[in-house]
Amino acid sequence: MKLHAAVLASLGFAASVNAIAKVTRTGRYLYTDDGNRFYLKGIAYQTQGQIISGPDNPLNQPSTFVDNLADDAGCARDIPNLQALGANAIRAYSVDSTLNHDSCMNALSSAGIYVIIDLTLPLNGSIDTTQPSWSTNLLNQYINTINVFNKYDNVLAYNVGNEVLTSSATNAAPFLKAAARDIKTYLASIKSSALVGYADIDGASSFRDAVSTYLSCDPTGSNSDATSIDIFGLNNYEWCGNDSTSTYDGINGEFQNYNVVAYFSEFGSENCNPVTRPWTEVGTLFASPMTNVWSGGLAFSYFSAQSQGHEFGMVTLSSDNKTTTTNADWDNLLNQYKQVSFVNSPSQSSAPASSFGACPQEGATLAASSTLPATPNQAACQCLQSSLPCLFKPPTPDYNVLLGTLTGVVCGLLPGVQGDCSDIAANGTTGTYGAVSGCDPTIKLSYAFSQYFELTGKAETSCDFSGNATLVSNNVNVVPSAAVASCVANPSATFTPSASAPASSATGGSSSSGGGGGSSSSGGGGGSTGGALSFAQGPIVGLAAAAACVVWGAMWTLL
Ligand SMILES: *[C@@H]1O[C@H](CO)[C@@H](O)[C@H](O)[C@H]1NC(C)=O
Ligand SMILES: *[C@@H]1O[C@H](CO)[C@@H](O)[C@H](O)[C@H]1NC(C)=O
Ligand SMILES: *[C@@H]1O[C@H](CO)[C@@H](O)[C@H](O)[C@H]1NC(C)=O
Ligand SMILES: *[C@@H]1O[C@H](CO)[C@@H](O)[C@H](O)[C@H]1NC(C)=O
Ligand SMILES: *[C@@H]1O[C@H](CO)[C@@H](O)[C@H](O)[C@H]1NC(C)=O
Repeated sequence: MKLHAAVLASLGFAASVNAIAKVTRTGRYLYTDDGNRFYLKGIAYQTQGQIISGPDNPLNQPSTFVDNLADDAGCARDIPNLQALGANAIRAYSVDSTLNHDSCMNALSSAGIYVIIDLTLPLNGSIDTTQPSWSTNLLNQYINTINVFNKYDNVLAYNVGNEVLTSSATNAAPFLKAAARDIKTYLASIKSSALVGYADIDGASSFRDAVSTYLSCDPTGSNSDATSIDIFGLNNYEWCGNDSTSTYDGINGEFQNYNVVAYFSEFGSENCNPVTRPWTEVGTLFASPMTNVWSGGLAFSYFSAQSQGHEFGMVTLSSDNKTTTTNADWDNLLNQYKQVSFVNSPSQSSAPASSFGACPQEGATLAASSTLPATPNQAACQCLQSSLPCLFKPPTPDYNVLLGTLTGVVCGLLPGVQGDCSDIAANGTTGTYGAVSGCDPTIKLSYAFSQYFELTGKAETSCDFSGNATLVSNNVNVVPSAAVASCVANPSATFTPSASAPASSATGGSSSSGGGGGSSSSGGGGGSTGGALSFAQGPIVGLAAAAACVVWGAMWTLL
């Protein structure tokens, strides 16, 4: 759908003949609706979150976030800078769907600036690296964000994850693919043409190949794009100082035949300790042969962002936040961006359509099955919750550590009473997904509590868990597995998620608004790449939502 001025006006925009052009994907390239190739030439735009140490944050990643797109004064202050830089795109890593973004988004649109929005949030707001699930709480979070941003004409893409996969943990890949599938059908259902993306941490070529190929493959072998991302972002920091153009020969070769759009979702290394970054990679990135493979990139970072002793930020705020000072890196980036002229080829009509090939075999570099988890089913999960005899009573406001602890406890107890946690478990390596695994983690815990209650002769003391569980007297005779069979009629169903993400119903005094994915932490660090490149080349302290490990009280696995 082309957004004409009248349509824009009806959506609450000032009618304007200069509306920002729509950007779409044709094959592996982006084009504006006048048929010209589009390249992202921009910058990461996100205040770095606060690092709050604790048991739910083993990697000391940012736990909080600022929604810069809801900061009207901040946007008004920064947009002239972004225009001076010649930026046509920014990336926002965490947004709050309860806030109003009209002022910022409309001003960015008027300035010709597109936005890539990460749907993830820090801590439990992302698919977790080592204990992943694709569940109603995350789907609802993603949909709530999309619903808020859908009215703007300058959202280029939504990312379903940032640096979730690492070379030592790729088992979350099927969950990311399922997220891409469900978000794509959801976007189609609301007539959005925004693209669906993922931002990948750099690593050895075997890791990059496996991840990029998997995220854009077709597990059904029928050349379908249904589970493919549209746009692959590589957070690439391999260029140092005044390196030569051959620096990128490796990745150019690797992505030579990639089937969808590829770009640098972050770039700009500090790893080689340059006094100032000359940003000479810009000239290489926006010239042939790179333009055959890549669609530009986003420099890291507008705001202060510290990682491993390096400062990536190029703009400093005054103490009252009212004015900005830019540094020498900024000046160099500005000068490099100024010299860019977009290579307008291939033409849209000659750009070949993408083909979606078979998924890569599981192996040493990819622990990801081609069997994907189901679409999280809110109605089925609510039905289950309202049937269960023993419910988790989440404390407020932060129950994630407790949720992880109690899940570990009950899953440790169940085998002793001929039970197990297989219904709530999900395993992306084996492609095995329990019938309850797509539910909110609080419902999963209630289900495990209820199984324990049932298997211990329904003693009232079996539904206690140090006061964290509550008995629902009307449901004491419900057999939990029977409730699953009746509520979750088709556990592997995929379908278009519903437009409204309803708040879960509360039963038996238990509020189930959302739920934690156990205790997780954000950031893509940890592990080693086993190649020439190491994580040390990129900001390990990513801006916000990636994911790391869940600390269950006791480890348990699918039986
Ligand atoms: C890059 O080259 C420029 C021009 O020769 C020089 O001024 C600058 O110091 C160099 N920067 C680095 C980091 O090597
Ligand atoms: C400046 O902005 C930061 C981040 O948005 C915020 O945390 C801080 O409180 C602000 N300071 C003032 C003086 O407004
Ligand atoms: C994350 O946990 C908090 C409580 O600690 C909860 O309010 C929120 O809904 C959870 N988010 C998701 C996506 O599960
Ligand atoms: C819930 O369980 C935790 C861990 O066993 C315990 O410390 C806490 O006191 C319990 N909460 C309540 C409300 O009883
Ligand atoms: C998935 O199953 C495999 C094979 O049984 C096991 O090695 C792995 O630890 C499991 N992963 C998770 C996240 O439970």
